Amino acid sequence: MAVERTFSMIKPDATERNLVGAITTMIEDSGLRIIASRRTRMTQEKAAEFYGVHSERPFFQSLCDFMCSGPIIVQVLEGENAVKKNREIMGATNPEDAEEGTIRKKHAVSLEKNSVHGSDSLENAAIEIEHFFSENEIHP
Ligand code: CMP
Repeated sequence: MAVERTFSMIKPDATERNLVGAITTMIEDSGLRIIASRRTRMTQEKAAEFYGVHSERPFFQSLCDFMCSGPIIVQVLEGENAVKKNREIMGATNPEDAEEGTIRKKHAVSLEKNSVHGSDSLENAAIEIEHFFSENEIHP
């Protein structure tokens, strides 16, 4: 199996409710390693760039406002099949559809306030990691 890197973000609804440790534990319990991590804040510009693929969707501005509403944690995760594994432990985008035992089932509030983001492909993982980290900040 291939060792991959993926990008993970803990969103403002989760930092606000003091869930950084709980979510980080769920990530680490899955076997993924957190090889870079930083607490930061989105700007409107950064959010619009990061979620650019959704710019024509009706929820775009609300999503950008929410992502700027509080601190976030950005992380790089590494492990076998990291992209798929992280999406499995996150659960479905809408917490109402998320399976038992997933981060979103346990902690998410709504489709927008869904606590975590994770890259959906290896290609996007590389792009999203580059949004926030330089190689010398990543320590396997
Ligand atoms: P995320 O995985 O970060 O990718 C895009 C985000 O847009 C998604 O999680 C949700 O938080 C948010 N979002 C809000 N409304 C919708 C919607 N109708 N469909 C998909 N994503 C939505």
